[in-house]
Amino acid sequence: VTNQISADPFAGLAGGYLEHCASSRGILRHELVTRQLREHMPRPPATVVDVGGGGGEQALRLAQVGYSVVVVDPSAAMLEEGRRRLLSQRAEIARRVSFVEASAASANDALSGARFDVVLCHGVLMYLEDWATAVGDVVRLTKPGGIISILNKNGDAVAMRAGLEGRYAEAVRAIMRQEDLGRLGVVTRAEPLQALADELWGCDGQIVAWYGVRVFSDHLADAPPAADFNELLEAEWLAGQTDPYRQVGRLLHVIARYQPT
Ligand SMILES: C[S@@+](CC[C@H](N)C(=O)[O-])C[C@H]1O[C@@H](n2cnc3c(N)ncnc32)[C@H](O)[C@@H]1O
Repeated sequence: VTNQISADPFAGLAGGYLEHCASSRGILRHELVTRQLREHMPRPPATVVDVGGGGGEQALRLAQVGYSVVVVDPSAAMLEEGRRRLLSQRAEIARRVSFVEASAASANDALSGARFDVVLCHGVLMYLEDWATAVGDVVRLTKPGGIISILNKNGDAVAMRAGLEGRYAEAVRAIMRQEDLGRLGVVTRAEPLQALADELWGCDGQIVAWYGVRVFSDHLADAPPAADFNELLEAEWLAGQTDPYRQVGRLLHVIARYQPT
C-alpha cells in the first residue's frame, strides 16, 4: 500500500477487515476510540474529515451525534461499504456524511484545500510506506486550533500479541523489527509514541492526550460480543488511560492540537 492511489490499495484486505469490525475486538476498538475522541472534539456541528475512513464506521458514529463528516479513502471497496451502510441510516444522518476517493497524499487537492475542525486518521499509517509524510498530509487538512486524531499500531509494545499467544520467536522478531504479521495477513509497522509525537511536533501538532487501545483483549480470537462485553469495555476504557497499562495497548490513540506558529 502506498500514499498514491493505484488500483485499490485495500481491495484484498477490505473483506477481512470489515468482518473483524463486527467482532467483539472490532466493536470494542471503535467504541473506545469514539469515546476518547469525543472528550476532545468541539461540540457539533463541527466539520470532520476521516482520512482512510472508507468503511464509514467512525463517520456514522459521529454523524449520529450531529457532526458532518467527509470520508476520504483510496479504496473503492471500502467506500462502497461506507455508502452501503449509509442506506440504513435516517436521511438527516446520511446527509451529514460524504465520500471522496483519494489517498492521504491527494486529499488536500481532492478537497480543494478545505480545512476541518477535526481530522481523523485511524488504522491507516501502519499500511503506508511513508507514514511520516502522511502525518504531514493529515495535519495540513486541519484548521488552526483544530484537533488531529491518529490511531496507529503501538511500536512500544508490538510484541505483546505474539508473546501472549505463545508465539515467542515472533515476539522476539517483533521487538527487534518493530513490525509484525497482523491478522489480515500482511506485515505492518508500528511506531513508538515518541516517534508520533516528534512527527506531529514537526508539523505544529502538539499532543494533548494519548490512550492505549485493547490492553486486555487484543490477543483473544475474533468472536461476537460476549455477555460481559460492557464490563470489558469499562476495564479497557480505564486501562487505556492509566499507566502502565495503556503503554502495552495494541494501538496508540493520539489526540493533538494544530497550533501553527
Ligand atoms: C484498517 S482500515 C481502517 C479503516 C477506518 N479508518 C477504521 O478505523 O475503521 C485502513 C484504511 O486505510 C485506507 N488506506 C490505504 N492506503 C491509504 C492512503 N494512502 N491514504 C489514505 N487511506 C489509505 C484503506 O483503504 C482502508 O480503508
